[in-house]
Amino acid sequence: MASLPTLDDLGDVKGKRALVRVDLNVPMHEGKIGDDTRLSATLPTVAELADKGAIVLLLSHFGRPKGVYRPDMSLSLVTRPYGHLFGRTVQFVPDCQGKSVADALAVLRPGDVAILENTRFHAGEEANDPALAKAMAANGDFYVNDAFSAAHRAHASTEGLAHLLPAFAGRAMEKELNALEAALGNPERPVAAVVGGAKVSTKLEMLRHLVAKVDHLIIGGGMANTFLAARGVEVGTSLAEHDLIGTVEEIFEAAERANCTIHLPYDVVVAKEFAPNPPSVRTCNVHEVAADEMILDIGPAALEALADVLKTCRTLVWNGPLGAFETPPFEAATIALARTAAALTQEGSLVSVAGGGDTVAALNQAGVAADFTFLSNAGGAFLEWMEGKTLPGVAALTQGR
Ligand code: 3PG
Ligand code: MG
Repeated sequence: MASLPTLDDLGDVKGKRALVRVDLNVPMHEGKIGDDTRLSATLPTVAELADKGAIVLLLSHFGRPKGVYRPDMSLSLVTRPYGHLFGRTVQFVPDCQGKSVADALAVLRPGDVAILENTRFHAGEEANDPALAKAMAANGDFYVNDAFSAAHRAHASTEGLAHLLPAFAGRAMEKELNALEAALGNPERPVAAVVGGAKVSTKLEMLRHLVAKVDHLIIGGGMANTFLAARGVEVGTSLAEHDLIGTVEEIFEAAERANCTIHLPYDVVVAKEFAPNPPSVRTCNVHEVAADEMILDIGPAALEALADVLKTCRTLVWNGPLGAFETPPFEAATIALARTAAALTQEGSLVSVAGGGDTVAALNQAGVAADFTFLSNAGGAFLEWMEGKTLPGVAALTQGR
């Protein structure tokens, strides 16, 4: 990767004002945070800067307020839980720019940490308005971006600011980029990718990119049905995008040219209705799906074949479940293959990287999240990275001013 300035490249920061872009966009229901992983992820950078005597000003979006103030999207709601998690006092400043911040800076001391109000309360944030970036930059001596999960957005606080101040990647950003580089940038081969999810249409770019990058492409979820249909399999009432069969054929051809093996199941778990533990559930060969049945998971023979593939691989990148994961018993194959990947990782034979909301939930359910090499906190940014796109927030750091 083009050289990425990190916190190691900072000189003496004592008394300097650090504008640190983090992602405090946590799920919140009735004032309670559902999952605070993203908050914890910021702590190494924030602690390091505070301990070196910087005055740490945290910038983040929270929800999608579209340029107007929304009390339910105020980062004041996150400030107390953040301080609690951090184990230190954290101030709240009711704007991300202007006089409120200047006033706060008059009393903040080296080592203090403050959360600034939701950047998206200003329309200029999403518009990447240079005026907003400039107003934010006025309150900082340097900029740190530690929000990989927002790096696919070219917004004032994720992109614009990086051009106005000396800019550095935070520790979480650095870790994430290193893990992703090891998984797809410059991986040890063979490389396998698991791509699941309901629709081929939402992951077309990812599939096109991956066939050129990986040795084994394992297709799961509803997407696999479209691939099976393209191979002439009768998929019954399965979710499938029959209008995309031509596109899928092009993906097969691209894979063949690139020497990438596409893996589709030879046996599947089917049912007549999509419901928890339906009485009609059965396992059959893909060529035996009845007209009134739908495919909801891959079968045990397919699972065993995929486990054998992973045993020959050195690197795995995973996005999306293999089956209709939220509904029992159709989570079985995803959980079993996740456990195989986790065990191979623990044995030291596999580097495993996974990302995307559903995927992380699935790995947590399988109880193997901690056994993967790296789990991304990012949703959209992880997908765009898997599509081979340049993330503006990352590019701005490597390009500098
Ligand atoms: C996320 O939740 O994926 C990030 O915080 C980015 O949020 P956004 O999709 O609203 O830009
Ligand atoms: Mg989102």
